[in-house]
Amino acid sequence: MIIGFLGTGVITEAIIRGLYDVAGYDDTILVSERSATRSAQLAHDYRKVRVVCDNRSLAEQSDWIMVSVLPEQVRDVLKELDYRPDQKIISLAAGVSLEQLRTWAAPATDIVRVIPMPPIEHGLGPVALCPPDAGAETLFEKIGTCVAVSDEAQFNLFGAASALMADFFDQVADVTTWMSGKGMDLTTAARYTTALYHALSDLTVRQPVEELHMMSAACQTPGGLNAQFLARRTQSGASRSLTEGLEDILARLESAAD
Ligand SMILES: NC(=O)c1ccc[n+]([C@@H]2O[C@H](COP(=O)([O-])OP(=O)(O)OC[C@H]3O[C@@H](n4cnc5c(N)ncnc54)[C@H](OP(=O)(O)O)[C@@H]3O)[C@@H](O)[C@H]2O)c1
Repeated sequence: MIIGFLGTGVITEAIIRGLYDVAGYDDTILVSERSATRSAQLAHDYRKVRVVCDNRSLAEQSDWIMVSVLPEQVRDVLKELDYRPDQKIISLAAGVSLEQLRTWAAPATDIVRVIPMPPIEHGLGPVALCPPDAGAETLFEKIGTCVAVSDEAQFNLFGAASALMADFFDQVADVTTWMSGKGMDLTTAARYTTALYHALSDLTVRQPVEELHMMSAACQTPGGLNAQFLARRTQSGASRSLTEGLEDILARLESAAD
C-alpha cells in the first residue's frame, strides 16, 4: 500500500518518523516536494520515502492520501486533483469538516479526519479519528492511542483539547524558569520539573477512569501545600480560564466548518 502526504510539514514528519522508527513500518510513503529541506531529509533518512514533484502525480500514485497542509490551503489543494472512488482520504486539517472534504475530494467517499499530536514521533499520544475507520486505526495504533467517534461535534472536543499543548509546555518551562530565577542551576531545575510532569501524566494513564476526578483530592492534605496552591489558583480564576479557553476553541472549530 502507498500512502501519500500532501504537505510535508511538522506533523507529517512526526508521523513518518514514528512509523519507520517506532513501528518498523515498511511500506512506501510519498511526500510532496514542498518544504524541500524537510522532504529531502526524510527521503535521505528512510529508503521507502519518495519525494514527488507535483500533487497530481502524488495523488495518482497513492492508495491513501493524507491531507496535511494548513486548513486554509485544503480547499485549493484538494480541488485541483482527481480522485478514484477507492482512495482513502485522511485529513489532518483542523476545522475542515467531513462535508467540505467530501465536496472537494469527490468522487472519493472514504474520508476520515484525524488529529495526531507531535509525540506520535515517539509512538505516544492520542490520535482522534472521525468517523471510526478500521484501516486508519490500524495504522495509527502502531504509533499512538486511537480514540474514534462517529459524531463530528464530539470530534471537535478532541480538537479543542489538542490546543492545551502550548499551555502545558509553558507551565513546565515557567516552573523551571522560576526555580532558576531563584538561583538554581537550569539543568538541575529542568531535570526535576520534566521528571515531575512526566510522572504525573503517567499516573493519570494508569488510573481507572472513574477515579480520575479523585486524584486531585487524594493529594490534598487539609492545610497542606497542594491544597494551598490549588486554592490560590482557583481563587485567581485558573480553572475557570481553562474551561473558558476550551469553549473559545470549540466555538472557533465549530464555526470554521460552517
Ligand atoms: N502540528 C501539529 O501538531 C498538528 C497536529 C494535528 C493536526 N495538524 C494539522 O496538520 C496540518 C499540517 O500542520 P503542520 O503543523 O504540519 O503545518 P506546516 O508545518 O506548516 O506544514 C504545512 C505543509 O504544507 C505544505 N504546503 C503548503 N501548500 C501546499 C501545496 N499547495 N501543495 C503541497 N504542499 C503544500 C507546506 O509546504 P511549504 O513549507 O513549502 O509552504 C508545508 O510542508 C494542518 O492542517 C494542521 O491543522 C497539525
